[in-house]
Amino acid sequence: MAVRQAEIETQHQAIEDFVHKALADVSGALTSSLVVIGDKLGLYKALAKGSATPAELAARTGTTERYIREWLNAQAAAGYVTYADGRYTLPAAHAVCLTDEESPACVLGAFQGMTAAMRANHKVSEGFKSGCGVGWHEHDPDLFVGVERFFRPGYNAHLVSEWIPALEGVQAKLERGARVADVGCGLGASTIILAKAFPNSKFVGFDYHGPSIERARERARAAGVADRVRFEVAAAKAFPGDHYDLIAFFDCLHDMGDPVGAARHVRQALAPDGTWLLVEPFANDRVEENLNPVGRLFYSVSTLVCTPASLAQEVGLALGAQAGEGRLREVLEQAGFTRIRRATETPFNLVLEARP
Ligand SMILES: C[S@@+](CC[C@H](N)C(=O)[O-])C[C@H]1O[C@@H](n2cnc3c(N)ncnc32)[C@H](O)[C@@H]1O
Repeated sequence: MAVRQAEIETQHQAIEDFVHKALADVSGALTSSLVVIGDKLGLYKALAKGSATPAELAARTGTTERYIREWLNAQAAAGYVTYADGRYTLPAAHAVCLTDEESPACVLGAFQGMTAAMRANHKVSEGFKSGCGVGWHEHDPDLFVGVERFFRPGYNAHLVSEWIPALEGVQAKLERGARVADVGCGLGASTIILAKAFPNSKFVGFDYHGPSIERARERARAAGVADRVRFEVAAAKAFPGDHYDLIAFFDCLHDMGDPVGAARHVRQALAPDGTWLLVEPFANDRVEENLNPVGRLFYSVSTLVCTPASLAQEVGLALGAQAGEGRLREVLEQAGFTRIRRATETPFNLVLEARP
């Protein structure tokens, strides 16, 4: 005991530092919850119009002053807004991230989706003991909407201008008129972006989750592309059609129970000179190389959502959201793909091209 006590005394500073770090993480989780409130009630948009007292912001948003005052103080302490002389201001740079849905810097979807993921904590912790999974469809619906909001600005920024041109010969085919499947399409953000950019091509989005497909259909109608986009409920191992020129998987292969089975199905559904565009979360091959802020985000969501989602399906390979290119290549090679290369990347995405 005495030795342990002496050891703790030598660790005094390290303990204090860790308590600070841990409490900062607790504060971050609480801030996340308050950001979701600010987003839902339009508080950021209203504050972006000009600095305000709590009473003024409450009047602008139809809310009550006492709640708003406490929320603003929490936001000021977190560094989201500034405070001086009784007035609160949303700095212009923060307003971009907290109000502009189309900006690649928008973080609202991340907060909405990740706070929704936390609501599955109870089910996931049971899975740790039983080994059973938690299906994507078993999550709070804010996860589906939040993930789409989180990813869409990145797809807007990169998909048409960088990722498609990085694939051999695909842009020309899409311009002429190609057959495209977007598998695990969720709410269809990527499908709709491609359909807008390539009006001569025909697109079909598949996802096993019915409510996501219904929303995707509504969004295609609203975007005016319903003439060239269909959305159908189908699993990645069984989606219909063949001779596709392009099959795309955006951030979903690792969520699937049987990614090798899905890859085999892609191979037989592609035209002989077709291309599989596989976008997965950015990761290096070794754990040590992923211990950074991006890895922290992805390993965490992988523990709460992606790994349980895969374990809930047949085979349950559970690649995880930080599989890395080496592990992904193994999956693709097992399915018979021979020409695989990293077409491009962003700090958040690995973009692979695979051909039979
Ligand atoms: C992280 S979300 C990505 C959604 C969309 N691709 C995007 O980038 O916004 C993963 C998607 O994979 C779908 N999914 C999971 N397993 C699937 C399977 N076996 N077959 C088809 N879709 C699947 C989920 O329903 C979910 O919509």
